[in-house]
Amino acid sequence: MSAPILVTGATGRLGQLVTARLLEQNQRVRVFTRRPEAARALFGARVEIAPGDFADRDSLHKALAGTRKLFLLSPISESLVEEQIAAAGAAAIEGGSRIVKISGSDWTIDPPGVSISGDAHAAVEWHLRGLSIEHVCIRPNAWMQVALLNTIRQAMTGQVLNARHGTARVAYIDARDIADVAVHQLLAPRVADKPLIITGNEAVSIRDIAGILARVLHRPIGVAETSGSVAPLLGDGFEHRAVAQFGTLIAAGRAATVTRVVPELLGHAPRTVKAFITEHFAADAALAG
Ligand SMILES: NC(=O)c1ccc[n+]([C@@H]2O[C@H](COP(=O)([O-])OP(=O)(O)OC[C@H]3O[C@@H](n4cnc5c(N)ncnc54)[C@H](OP(=O)(O)O)[C@@H]3O)[C@@H](O)[C@H]2O)c1
Repeated sequence: MSAPILVTGATGRLGQLVTARLLEQNQRVRVFTRRPEAARALFGARVEIAPGDFADRDSLHKALAGTRKLFLLSPISESLVEEQIAAAGAAAIEGGSRIVKISGSDWTIDPPGVSISGDAHAAVEWHLRGLSIEHVCIRPNAWMQVALLNTIRQAMTGQVLNARHGTARVAYIDARDIADVAVHQLLAPRVADKPLIITGNEAVSIRDIAGILARVLHRPIGVAETSGSVAPLLGDGFEHRAVAQFGTLIAAGRAATVTRVVPELLGHAPRTVKAFITEHFAADAALAG
């Protein structure tokens, strides 16, 4: 049987989707986690579990021993660069042949110096280029599953929508499309030779989203007027500062670019915001009914 693929972040939002898709394709999957019981609850006996922590080098080497491919994801934090470089280095030493990294959104990386999170991902990308191991970096735009849930909740509870990015448009991407692209790159004969900048198929504003929600809910949905950038004051930790910077960049229209990478790679259009919202309400109604 083929060597297992090591999935980091498998208990998180995106890693769960990647793991499920690999299992559907009858791949052997080993998941790297600080919480083996959570991984077991999610995936049962279908995965091998490698307990560990990015900060524990031995656990990384044990997890990577006997694997050929690594799906590399870790959360935004001050230690992202150190963690991901340690994982990539352990993969190279253990004989790994491919790394598929989830990077930051392209507009956080290019130009440099506008996002502490983007700069951290860029440092890892640069390091990977110096390793003799095939790799690809996926730069997804803002995820629907992260960015839209609060807006949907506001609409469901009868509140006006908060226009925290002003009138800026965003080419949100469904995390399921990111997972499809990641799995494609893990299983393809060769990976792409440059970073994959992936987005949804349209850029929408908060007013467009309010229109979609109004049609689904059959009632008007208001949008609170705001002026300029309204990045929330969240605190001064690394992640909070990173999120505040995302807000400023998005409000400046930096996340509005649409690319054709998803259809070109997967042969079908990316999932739409309208479909995401409609599915969300259908699932909610099914739960309630
Ligand atoms: N949201 C967006 O719009 C967006 C856009 C572009 C890029 N991204 C990138 O996506 C990534 C976040 O992905 P996500 O939202 O799927 O993550 P998430 O849901 O926050 O999950 C984090 C995962 O990382 C694992 N983890 C955390 N610390 C660890 C450690 N010390 N050792 C081992 N595992 C550890 C956790 O596993 P355990 O707890 O089980 O150990 C968990 O599975 C970030 O790198 C971010 O920059 C996000």
